[in-house]
Amino acid sequence: SSIKIIEYPASSIESSITKSTTMKRSFILLIALLVTQLLSAQQFEPNYDESKVPKYILPDVLTTFNGKKVKSVKVWENKRRPELLNYFTENMFGKVPGELKISSVEILEQSDNAYDGKAIRKQVALHFEKNGKKLSFTILIYLPKNVEKAPLILGYNFYGNHTVTTDVNVIISDAWVDNNPSFGIINNQLTEQSRGVRTNRWDIEKMLEAGIGLATIYYGEVDPDKNDFSDGIHPLLYKKNQEKPEVNEWGSIAAWAWGLSRAMDYFETDKDIDASKVIVFGHSRLGKTSLWAGATDRRFAAVISNNSGCGGAALSKRAFGETVGRINNAFPHWFCGNFKNYNNNETMMPFDQHELLALIAPRPLYVASAEEDKWADPKGEFLGAYFASPVYKLYGKKGIVSDEMPAVNKPVQNTVAYHIRTGVHDVTSYDWEQYISWAKEQLNIE
Ligand code: GCU
Repeated sequence: SSIKIIEYPASSIESSITKSTTMKRSFILLIALLVTQLLSAQQFEPNYDESKVPKYILPDVLTTFNGKKVKSVKVWENKRRPELLNYFTENMFGKVPGELKISSVEILEQSDNAYDGKAIRKQVALHFEKNGKKLSFTILIYLPKNVEKAPLILGYNFYGNHTVTTDVNVIISDAWVDNNPSFGIINNQLTEQSRGVRTNRWDIEKMLEAGIGLATIYYGEVDPDKNDFSDGIHPLLYKKNQEKPEVNEWGSIAAWAWGLSRAMDYFETDKDIDASKVIVFGHSRLGKTSLWAGATDRRFAAVISNNSGCGGAALSKRAFGETVGRINNAFPHWFCGNFKNYNNNETMMPFDQHELLALIAPRPLYVASAEEDKWADPKGEFLGAYFASPVYKLYGKKGIVSDEMPAVNKPVQNTVAYHIRTGVHDVTSYDWEQYISWAKEQLNIE
């Protein structure tokens, strides 16, 4: 499973007195958090027994809410897709309440000698300003040097840009330090101990060899992953006196997806990048995020969901492993307020996750599971991809055509692709091998 980022309030490193009080307070907060999590974990018993999956009726992706069968791309695009997109927006992820453009772009650093001269590296800060508030986040970009305009994989990282590579030139961001004081600072000194700790999840050299670049962002810079809406990007779009999003307004996942779209705004201006070939990728909560980014922003050419589970590719109505009620209790900030209406109430959902996946059609979509990742419901993820496929068919594209789950480590790769690999909740070299060869074929990458 992913590293759990323990959230402390930002502490000042100038004053050790303030720091130690803050640390004490943080410690108490941490204990309180652990106790709450323990209590809620005790109350929730996940079902891992296929025979106990409740009987459910899955809404047909090609039937409108008022019962009309969708038979053409035109009706899908003009009626059914918009109504589904609107439903997911209002009742699950929440809408972005206004427009917020990049106010300035700052190239913090660049080099054409990364990865032994094989890559260009850029570290690009996007700055935002509104309501007298500011936010910035940094995109770390590696581009294969032998490609004139490089296709890109874009994905958030959980733990800081400097953790995805051992490259010593990658800047350790202030936001990361604020979120991880115990890891990042010892005796008021920024340490190097976390550099490269997540290289196993990012096969950057394999991407570069394939002629594909990587762009990655530390997700905590766009919105820290905690149930607190006073920080991150949300306050920049608050109305007067607003302190948290309305029940139909963006949770953290929608905020993270928004950040990916702003990265895309930048890519469109970078002559070294082929913005028509950006593949949005994410693991776990960030896989839920890549799906929502792909659904809301059609500039993304392809979408990869790695072990995204509940609220991602997995069908909610199966209630296998993590459920809607459980995810909303444990992570109340991820989805919008309205999504809580479906806690322990999946039968009342007039939609399910296959329809989120269908919003990505006809663009290539890869859903991947891991055999031991029962919490994310591999079968539910597979069925999500399968039941989204009729929309691909409508466009003349091949999705997942058999409802029989493929064997472990036997990928099925069409415009919609799926694999279940051996192992646990993670991103592995096996996953990257599949994603890279599939993306090359789907997007005609030489
Ligand atoms: C938790 C959560 C999952 C999520 C995962 C992750 O396990 O319940 O929904 O996908 O964290 O992001 O690693």
